[in-house]
Amino acid sequence: MINGKKIVLGVAGGIAAYKACALTSKLTQQGADVKVIMTENAQQFVSPLTFQALSRNPVFTDTFDEKDSAKIAHIDLADWADIFVIAPATANVIGKIAGGIADDMLSTTLLATEAEVYIAPAMNVHMYAHPAVMENMKKLEAWGYKFIEPGSGLLACGYVGKGRLEEPEEIMKVIATDQENKNLLKGKKVLISAGPTKERVDPIRYFTNHSSGKMGFALASEAAKMGAEVTMVSGPVNLETPARVKRVDVESAEQMYEEMIRLYPEQDVVIKAAAVADYRPVVVYDEKMKKKQGGLTIEMERTNDILKELGRRKTSQFLVGFAAETINHMEYGRKKLVDKNLDAIVINNIKETGAGFGADTNVVTYINKFGDIKEMELAKKTDIASKILDEISKGLKEASD
Ligand code: PMT
Repeated sequence: MINGKKIVLGVAGGIAAYKACALTSKLTQQGADVKVIMTENAQQFVSPLTFQALSRNPVFTDTFDEKDSAKIAHIDLADWADIFVIAPATANVIGKIAGGIADDMLSTTLLATEAEVYIAPAMNVHMYAHPAVMENMKKLEAWGYKFIEPGSGLLACGYVGKGRLEEPEEIMKVIATDQENKNLLKGKKVLISAGPTKERVDPIRYFTNHSSGKMGFALASEAAKMGAEVTMVSGPVNLETPARVKRVDVESAEQMYEEMIRLYPEQDVVIKAAAVADYRPVVVYDEKMKKKQGGLTIEMERTNDILKELGRRKTSQFLVGFAAETINHMEYGRKKLVDKNLDAIVINNIKETGAGFGADTNVVTYINKFGDIKEMELAKKTDIASKILDEISKGLKEASD
């Protein structure tokens, strides 16, 4: 996945710049053509000559050092790259990209590139945790930039904590795996439902559940990175739309039903990660319900079971459901797999620590219609999402063989 790739490596001014030398060497050994851009500060730590010798290419340090009068260096380099890596990425460089600032060779080239960008931050633990840096990274992530998280340990500044540039081998592994995954769902149309539904009682009150939408959004984001054309039908959540995902917002189970049914026929894969209300109030009041003496009984009626209906209408779609259970989760999950005519089900045991509603992590069991089981241990929802999508890709491949 690295062999033959044209890689621009941006080196910013941090002590971890020395690790970028090893990264250059390893990428070159793997057959990549590496061109290095160094910021002025990076040159305080390592000499451009080191990178020139390791990459066997000239090193770029100055936007106005135009070596070829027929070309504009930063545009030429931006267009040349298949992959753009920034390692180490300092708080300063991350801030510049998030703010659209282009005032040196690295930032101008980066703004001009359409290549895939991987950012490997390295900085002091408190700088890394600063809300400005966090906010900038969140912004960049939403724009489709990929982050290779720093490791924890003793930092050059003497602090122990998160901020150490990931090891060059690991950076290479992340890039290679990501490149490998990139095309797994290329050309496939994927429909994902996410978040809770809200079932109104009156203009002020409603019934809902604890779903934050994180699992569904992680699936949408990862599917888009794997090359799929993703549409996400989302209940009311407080999350930013992932890059390259088409989002349709709904509120109630009925609205979700209508949108999912409308979009269903053209899909290759459908994943129902939403937590849909099973019941809604029979009467929805136009005005605020006034309180009265005594208790209150609200009559509820069943909502449409969207997944069951999709299972009934299934033609060639690969249909995946989720199950959130507190007891007998495997038994109930398997029953849903069969009853709703699914190709696979992802079962959360929501009583397990770090699993299910609201958390950034999950623990799930993936079961396909042949009964094959894949346990997915505690991990970030994005990692769980990517594993689920790997299984779905395998399922699609088996179905087409
Ligand atoms: O959003 P997060 O905070 O990240 O949390 C993630 C999650 C726990 C919500 C998610 O991973 C999950 O498990 N979603 C499904 C929750 C759920 O409603 O499970 P269920 O067992 O009640 O429903 C089974 C399946 O039927 C689900 O795919 C559900 O979308 C679907 N369903 C349910 C009822 C209904 N009326 N229509 C449906 O389509």
